[in-house]
Amino acid sequence: MGKRNLISVTDMKDEWHDLVDLAIKLKAERGHHNDPLKGKTLAMMFEKPSTRTRTSFDIAITELGGHALYLDVTKMQMGHGETVEDTARVLSRFAHGIMYRAFDYKMMDKLGEWASIPVISGLDNLEHPCQALADIVTIKEKFGEVKGKKVVYLGDGNNVCNSLLYACAIMGIDMIACCPATRMPNAEIMLAAAKIAESNGSKILASHEPLEACKNADVLYTDTWISMGDTTSEAEAIKLFQMYQINDELLSIANPDCIVMHCLPAHRGQEITNSVIEGKHSVVFDQAENRLHAQKAVLYTLLKD
Ligand code: CP
Ligand code: NVA
Repeated sequence: MGKRNLISVTDMKDEWHDLVDLAIKLKAERGHHNDPLKGKTLAMMFEKPSTRTRTSFDIAITELGGHALYLDVTKMQMGHGETVEDTARVLSRFAHGIMYRAFDYKMMDKLGEWASIPVISGLDNLEHPCQALADIVTIKEKFGEVKGKKVVYLGDGNNVCNSLLYACAIMGIDMIACCPATRMPNAEIMLAAAKIAESNGSKILASHEPLEACKNADVLYTDTWISMGDTTSEAEAIKLFQMYQINDELLSIANPDCIVMHCLPAHRGQEITNSVIEGKHSVVFDQAENRLHAQKAVLYTLLKD
């Protein structure tokens, strides 16, 4: 089989369940991996800041016996006019995989097309597939069986929301994207995810009514109201999203054993209150840790000989 990319969740749709299980297995086996990626180098290209993605990929490949290289795109020739096509072909002669955090999904797609080694998205303006994998790992870890669970995503219908829609659909999880009408998730992704969900016996729905949507929820999920590269002002965002904030009132509507998730970084007092993110329903740091185990599953699957 030729090289594969993970740019959209759908690129690994058929292996998604296996990736989730492998991440859980690798978490249990931490410290005993026997260097399956010995001699492999992951080139990590960043156009935007990162704490979790950068650190977890670096540590993940190191713990699997390989090596990571951090590349700040503004300091690469690609940030000064070299084409993505040439960059892809050059890096393919040096490294065994590329992780790329991009502003524009079109650049991501081009890199994926021109590289002869796997390209893994570390987020672009359309998706954040590795985040979604860690999210599903977390939901599975907390509930055991995930099929039929209900996830409500509140706030901006952004990259994190788009990938979560696909991931929930693949797992047979019901998901409601509860967002303002002007900030719904990508329409094509909503439709495609709804189709996948239907074949797995679940539903992908849209709502603008948090008090209605959160009834019987097993998971409340939110993300920043202003993503990197988004020019919405803070004042505008507060006006648009305030009613979608995860606070104690909204949490009281959900199931009593509901978990609260956030991909981080969080803005306390905006998309989530301090009392909720620090409260007993919050699993945000387990979720952040699971980025490490999810990255390992992806790297192992795509880079192992
Ligand atoms: N959740 C996430 O991707 O975080 P970073 O921006 O810190 O990588
Ligand atoms: N939606 C956010 C996620 C950050 C990890 C962004 O794109 O900035």
